[in-house]
Amino acid sequence: MTAATTQQPPVSRDPMVPRPFRVVASHLDTDDTVTLSLEPMGSDPLVFAPGQFTMLHAFGVGEVPISICGDPTRPDPLMHTIRDVGNVTHALVSAEVGAVVGVRGPYGTGWRPGDGVGGDLLMVAGGIGLAPLRPALLEVASRRDEYDRVVLLYGARSPADILFEDDLRRWADECRIEVAVTVDYAPPEWDGRVGPVTTLVGRAGFDPPRTLALVCGPEIMMTLTANALLGRGVAPHRMRLSMERNMKCGAGLCGHCQLREFFLCVDGPVLPYSQLAPLLDVREL
Ligand SMILES: Cc1cc2nc3c(=O)[nH]c(=O)nc-3n(C[C@H](O)[C@H](O)[C@H](O)COP(=O)(O)OP(=O)(O)OC[C@H]3O[C@@H](n4cnc5c(N)ncnc54)[C@H](O)[C@@H]3O)c2cc1C
Ligand code: FES
Repeated sequence: MTAATTQQPPVSRDPMVPRPFRVVASHLDTDDTVTLSLEPMGSDPLVFAPGQFTMLHAFGVGEVPISICGDPTRPDPLMHTIRDVGNVTHALVSAEVGAVVGVRGPYGTGWRPGDGVGGDLLMVAGGIGLAPLRPALLEVASRRDEYDRVVLLYGARSPADILFEDDLRRWADECRIEVAVTVDYAPPEWDGRVGPVTTLVGRAGFDPPRTLALVCGPEIMMTLTANALLGRGVAPHRMRLSMERNMKCGAGLCGHCQLREFFLCVDGPVLPYSQLAPLLDVREL
């Protein structure tokens, strides 16, 4: 049996019941990562804020939290970039055009890039962490004149793992966004930067007291980036990190995502570093 069915389930009003969405496009980004475009079946498009996530349901397999990666000003189709790491994500990246998946949400707090209007905006992404930041980048690109410097620092495992290459070029060439990309390892023909994304922080052009920093990636990368930003003089309350923990309900009911006093599905995933700093070494419950 395939995980994503082509039959149309009924639309429920219960917020815990997934709404059916049809896969209208599936784009292979890298060898293990796919972007799915989804259209609602019999319900309105899902309006979301940059940084929010949905619970994506592969029928017969399970449900996982995945960040929305599309344009917040154009919520239809609904886009998610998914890395194939286990059962549910494998079923989702395997969903073909025409298949039906379930969607609950949107859930969680957003990046709120608008808080950086009038100053500099710095975004630092590691790996698949560029996907949750993409809606913020699209929003900022559409209101570019409201910011001073806008900088994106992006680290991927290798050149073959770089996501959204067309976007990266467009943001740099047409949107006056300073884009710097680095990879952990590269073949000899790569003439770009090699090394962790944190090494880019020291050289990046932004004015720390006037900077809002949005950081998304593996936890160790976010911790090291936050330390580098502190070293440059960015205030802890002006850094926002997106925290990933196991989630079941996505709606503040089950406690699976608890990190001390926070339920990350409702209080997060995006939280200021000033609140997260004492918690970053707390393991999952
Ligand atoms: C708020 C939020 C937003 C997310 N956004 C995205 C996204 O945009 N794209 C995307 O591909 N993934 C995203 N994830 C991670 C995604 O939810 C997990 O990869 C997924 O739950 C794995 O489920 P699985 O059944 O496929 O694999 P499992 O069998 O559950 O796990 C396979 C492997 O992945 C690891 N893993 C499971 N969950 C996570 C997690 N939350 N973070 C890191 N490693 C994990 C496990 O430890 C295990 O090693 C997000 C997670 C959260 C909490
Ligand atoms: S996932 Fe259930 S409370 Fe957060």
